[in-house]
Amino acid sequence: MSTEERIRNARLRALVMPAERAAAFIQPGENVAMSGFTGSGYPKAVPLALAGHIERAHAAGQPFQIKVLTGASTAPELDGALAKVDGMSMRLPFQTDPTARNKINAGQMEYIDMHLSHVAQQTWFGTYGELDTAIVEVSAIREDGRLVPSTSVGNNKTWLDLAKKVIIEVNHWQPAGVDGMHDVYYGTALPPHRRPIPLVNANDRIGEPYLRVDLDKVVAVVETDGPDRNSPFKPADAESERIAAHLIEFLQHEVKQGRLPRNLLPLQSGVGNIPNAVLAGLGKSGLRDLNAFTEVIQDGMLDLLKSGVLKSASCTGFALSPEANEEFKRNIAFYRERIVMRTQEISNHPELVRRLGCIAMNGMIEADLYGNVNSTHVMGTKIMNGIGGSGDFARNGFLSTFLSPSTAKNGTISALVPMVSHVDHTEHDVSVIVTEQGLADLRGLSPKQRAKALLAHCVHPDYRDPLQGYFDRASRDSFGKHTPHLLPEALSWHQRWLDTGTMQA
Ligand code: COA
Repeated sequence: MSTEERIRNARLRALVMPAERAAAFIQPGENVAMSGFTGSGYPKAVPLALAGHIERAHAAGQPFQIKVLTGASTAPELDGALAKVDGMSMRLPFQTDPTARNKINAGQMEYIDMHLSHVAQQTWFGTYGELDTAIVEVSAIREDGRLVPSTSVGNNKTWLDLAKKVIIEVNHWQPAGVDGMHDVYYGTALPPHRRPIPLVNANDRIGEPYLRVDLDKVVAVVETDGPDRNSPFKPADAESERIAAHLIEFLQHEVKQGRLPRNLLPLQSGVGNIPNAVLAGLGKSGLRDLNAFTEVIQDGMLDLLKSGVLKSASCTGFALSPEANEEFKRNIAFYRERIVMRTQEISNHPELVRRLGCIAMNGMIEADLYGNVNSTHVMGTKIMNGIGGSGDFARNGFLSTFLSPSTAKNGTISALVPMVSHVDHTEHDVSVIVTEQGLADLRGLSPKQRAKALLAHCVHPDYRDPLQGYFDRASRDSFGKHTPHLLPEALSWHQRWLDTGTMQA
């Protein structure tokens, strides 16, 4: 498509300029809000050009850092490039980039890891100060100046509403057929003026397909032609398949018991190889007419839509492998009928997750005897990614499941430990834990009953006796007997791994 076809508003077309010139609008110390959610729909040229400006400023001895807000994680052209040149003084709300992660864990970069549904409202509340610049990727600009979002919506509505100046990237790589897939809800407000959100079914459309922008705020438009970047999924290994099989058997059991409808309840799935294996397993399960109310659509969900097992999916962004992306583009008219892309304040809205009764399926780093879950911190101090949307769904879902291999790092780490070294999801928010060993249904159980269920079903055989031993001694000697712990020993497995390279004694 030509520039005229992609940028149909003449006033904004007159602002087309190279990324280097656009990036020059950003000054040191600014709060810069960018599009992007899980490797899709992030700006691909201006952050890179900005990293160049920052690098040159640093070489000349001038300080230059910005605070960066996004929807969620992005890609090397954004997080990687800016982290590499020490361009970010603060990053929020989620990231997965290795360079940025290293800087954060070395104490060289501040990071706020937070519930993704909170970001828009916290920005409106003024928690992060004023937004200076928004950089938002779109797939096209309409004649009336409204923007056709690209492969993620994230917080773009909030960024465009609040930023003092706006830079738009129009990405020719994005399929024009994405037009009509989005549903941007403009009915949110600040308390005490909030009204009920009129969404009743997971696939309802309650807003409009386009983002609004005040044309007076737009300072630059940049054309790009680059792909979204997501890694290919590894083929499911035997461990992931066993985890998936345990979960699907449980869901089918719940249907038989009448606790779940025959087409389940709206599914939320985290991103990764295990969730992808669950989705593949659902494809073969005989379950039909499913719906998803989730954050991100990954390869497995596209497959389920194609096979008709999944009727509809609501999301805020994509995390597709290059092959799945090609499939998405080839059959975009089919997917447009079945996918609704929303702002993340709606896709992850706790009230909607509660009302729809989502089945949440997320990964974890570790869980403890009583069902507390750590999703984010290795050995309690080193951040892996962040909580992302897992808490939005886990606390409010109908069923809150956490899936993980029972060991990590070649068996030197047990995913089931006496006490988690960091808590993201408390014992009150976790219904079911699944490892390749089995599934523990923690609903309706007291702390000690939960410990017994986890010991019986989830712990790797190498760690079963040591964990049973800890539980027995704690049950005997603990100060209180409701949630037994031996405080000097509770984190000793983690310390042993740090000291010796294994949690095994
Ligand atoms: N101790 C130390 N490291 C651990 C660990 C543990 N108990 N459990 C996992 N890891 C490491 C793995 O070894 C692996 O490391 P590597 O990248 O160096 O190989 C890494 O964590 C990823 O683990 P993996 O088993 O491949 O699972 P995953 O890709 O599914 O990731 C989480 C698991 C917990 C990191 C991931 O699910 C996550 O970030 N969750 C929080 C956000 C979230 O839930 N988002 C979805 C909501 S929409």
